[in-house]
Amino acid sequence: MQTGNKGRIWRWLPSLVVPTSLVLLAASYLTWSPSRAADEKSKDKSKDATPTSYDQVAPVLLGQGTFQDVMAKDKADKPTVMARQKKLLEERYDLSPRVDKTVTMTRGKPIPVGPAALLPKGMTWETLAQMSPDEVREKGLFPMGYLPLPHPKQLVGGMVFTQAQIKQLPRLQRFDVDFDLPDHFLPEFPPAMFLTTRKDLGDVSQGKLITVENFQQIFAGILNSKDLEGMRLLVAQFPQQQFNATADRKAEQPLGMQGVACFDCHVNGHTSGATHLVGDIRPQSHRRRIDTTSLRGVNIQRLFGSQRALKSVEDFTEFEQRAAYFDGDILSAAAKGINPLERGSQVHFMAEVQELLDFPPAPGLGVDGLLDPKKFGPDTLEMQGQKLFFGKAQCSTCHPAPFYTDNLMNDLKVERFYKTQTHNDMVATVQGPIKTFTLRGIKESPPYLHDGRLPTLEDTVEFFSLVLELKLDAHDKKALVAFMRQL
Ligand code: HEC
Ligand code: HEC
Repeated sequence: MQTGNKGRIWRWLPSLVVPTSLVLLAASYLTWSPSRAADEKSKDKSKDATPTSYDQVAPVLLGQGTFQDVMAKDKADKPTVMARQKKLLEERYDLSPRVDKTVTMTRGKPIPVGPAALLPKGMTWETLAQMSPDEVREKGLFPMGYLPLPHPKQLVGGMVFTQAQIKQLPRLQRFDVDFDLPDHFLPEFPPAMFLTTRKDLGDVSQGKLITVENFQQIFAGILNSKDLEGMRLLVAQFPQQQFNATADRKAEQPLGMQGVACFDCHVNGHTSGATHLVGDIRPQSHRRRIDTTSLRGVNIQRLFGSQRALKSVEDFTEFEQRAAYFDGDILSAAAKGINPLERGSQVHFMAEVQELLDFPPAPGLGVDGLLDPKKFGPDTLEMQGQKLFFGKAQCSTCHPAPFYTDNLMNDLKVERFYKTQTHNDMVATVQGPIKTFTLRGIKESPPYLHDGRLPTLEDTVEFFSLVLELKLDAHDKKALVAFMRQL
């Protein structure tokens, strides 16, 4: 603002002595100010003219506008933002709460039943399966729910927590956006927690949300003191891009020493379904939504991050607070209070605790990770599903037993089926190689795929049947779902 005023004075002073055209030229030069440059840049950006790696450096951090102004505008915009996302979801999915009460997650939440993704008008899964990828793409017949899913507020992005969680932890409420997917498509909250070291105890969570207040009481006599310290760091809050003390934050109250904890998203070492945008893509329109991954079973995994393939849990733990917490923006990280973790005494302790997190028990599986033939006869739906999984449906190529992951990234080349298109400010384009997530405990972690675009297991089977061009029939699909419910 100040520079602007100075500029105005300069504009009028020389007009007393020099011709108007020169004055205008001088004026436009002298009235240049950082804020004007930023305005012009953002105009250019809307035309996608100037590529920038600095989308996240908010004007408000540079003193251009106040927290109160931004919050007032964000609050006023919020109903429109949420209505637009709701419309997109309704176009893509049947959002009604269909669940199977006989099949539950560990603590009793019924699993959602689909397929929820809607077919294009006049299509059936069978007619769609008869078409080639080229034909589906050219005719625009790929189900909308199979396209990459935008973040509820793509151009701002950042962590968005679920309503179930905000109810218990009101500090996680943002004023500019709410979580978008209905609760029946999410993991149970809080979820159970299993330790590889104390399998005898079963669920060690006591049905509670593990926090900085109760972790000592819950894990006393279960973890050693080093791991208790690791656990303390996993439930401790640190400043983050949207939850901090600067005028650029999206939480109403300034959070000075607070922010978010690892276990805010990876609730009880599993996932709440909180969503985010991947940190390492620019421009903002191309960043992918990412559904919080479960940390159950990271001990048998070799790559971390759906698209980053960091090589150890230690690396990912450091990466979270140095990069992911600040949306991959090292400039505002410094302003907001980055908390570099010490590798030997903090990262190592935190990683060690993560390595103890086990998958939920799968009583139907034998030691080889396959269905126990004493429990499942050859004619059961589950056994037929297993046969398909390891045979005609080709699932085991990338999801081999016993842990149902090849520990690699694979490129499903889903873009064979759709043209690049923009929805709610997100460019749905080629996704490239993605981590092959493990399928152990899979019924407890909807929604599926890296961005959570598939709400149910039925949707994953329809999706893979189409994308791998398997032409599975209705019975095959039922059998595959029945098998995956046992994993
Ligand atoms: C939004 C809340 C959020 C917070 C807070 C958070 N994470 Fe994550 N975490 C995610 C998301 C989302 C992913 C998936 C990243 C991807 O798909 O690339 C992830 C991935 C991971 C992974 C890789 C898992 C895998 O299967 O590849 C590890 C390990 C991890 N986080 C550990 C941590 C630790 C340790 C902390 C605290 C320092 C933390 N996270 C804090 C959301 C969060
Ligand atoms: C070519 C390798 C490949 C084959 C074959 C394959 N998958 Fe996958 N699977 C992947 C990859 C890669 C992902 C992650 C994709 C993403 O997130 O965009 C994935 C994700 C999944 C998920 C979601 C996991 C999660 O945590 O969100 C399910 C369920 C799944 N696959 C089931 C199957 C089934 C059933 C089959 C066989 C019909 C199958 N897959 C065949 C590579 C494969």
